[in-house]
Amino acid sequence: MVLAVVLISILIVVFRFRAKSSDDNVLPPQIEGNNRLELVWTVGPVVLLTLLSVGLIKQSFALGKVYPSTKALQVDVTGHQFWWQIQYPESGVVTANELHIPVGQKVELQLTSTDVMHALWVPRLGGKIDLVPGRTNYLWLEASQPGVYQGQCAEYCGTGHAFMRFEVVAESPARFNEWTQAMLHPQSQPTTALARQGYYLFGHLPNLTCSNCHAIGGTPFKGAVGPNLTDLSDRLMIAANILPNTPQNLAAWLHNPQAVKPGALMPNLHLKPDQIRALVAYLDSLK
Ligand code: CUA
Repeated sequence: MVLAVVLISILIVVFRFRAKSSDDNVLPPQIEGNNRLELVWTVGPVVLLTLLSVGLIKQSFALGKVYPSTKALQVDVTGHQFWWQIQYPESGVVTANELHIPVGQKVELQLTSTDVMHALWVPRLGGKIDLVPGRTNYLWLEASQPGVYQGQCAEYCGTGHAFMRFEVVAESPARFNEWTQAMLHPQSQPTTALARQGYYLFGHLPNLTCSNCHAIGGTPFKGAVGPNLTDLSDRLMIAANILPNTPQNLAAWLHNPQAVKPGALMPNLHLKPDQIRALVAYLDSLK
């Protein structure tokens, strides 16, 4: 519309006022300075922009207002290279890469990062926001339908950026409460001989132990560098939503994390096949 008005005006001026062969070669009257015109095109835009800015500024403050937290489920999300730490301050549940939320309830995410900038993005639930070290950002989500919604880090954060994914599992409030209870009372003691061996290795591997970095609810393992593994066998995916959570994939991950996920910060511990079997047996029993 603006383009059409401008183009048509230019064309009219060009054709209407061009020099004709009948014109004698005299300069047209020379006009310089017109106070009334200057005043109109200075004051006009000032008034117009001032009026427009009133609504804009009001709306900006409304958008920046913090949603009353009493009405929303609180979840703290911390970005790490290259996974997501998820904490529910009210219940004390800690998990990773799988955000459980009740359907039909507003969820307030408080987001920060421990290393570099990340960005949380769940396209189907809307909203995308940066996770910035030393700062807390807020995002409100609400799922109206149960289901699994894919999420992705949307800010380049290093080699593993494209593999920094997560899932939002939206479920009925009753199911969400069951999940919370399961997380608070995890089944984390080994029950078979092989799993017992894995449990032992988890805390006592020579050189580097798994428990230096990972925590498991209901055990003495309290490492907080890597993802919390409580309830691991119930998760849909492993390695920040890269592989389906199967014993084979877990074994592949333990064998060589970087081969599964380039840039992964979990070291390759050069585990022997029998150590991997024992660790998988234990990890796969975590409910
Ligand atoms: Cu985290 Cu990109």
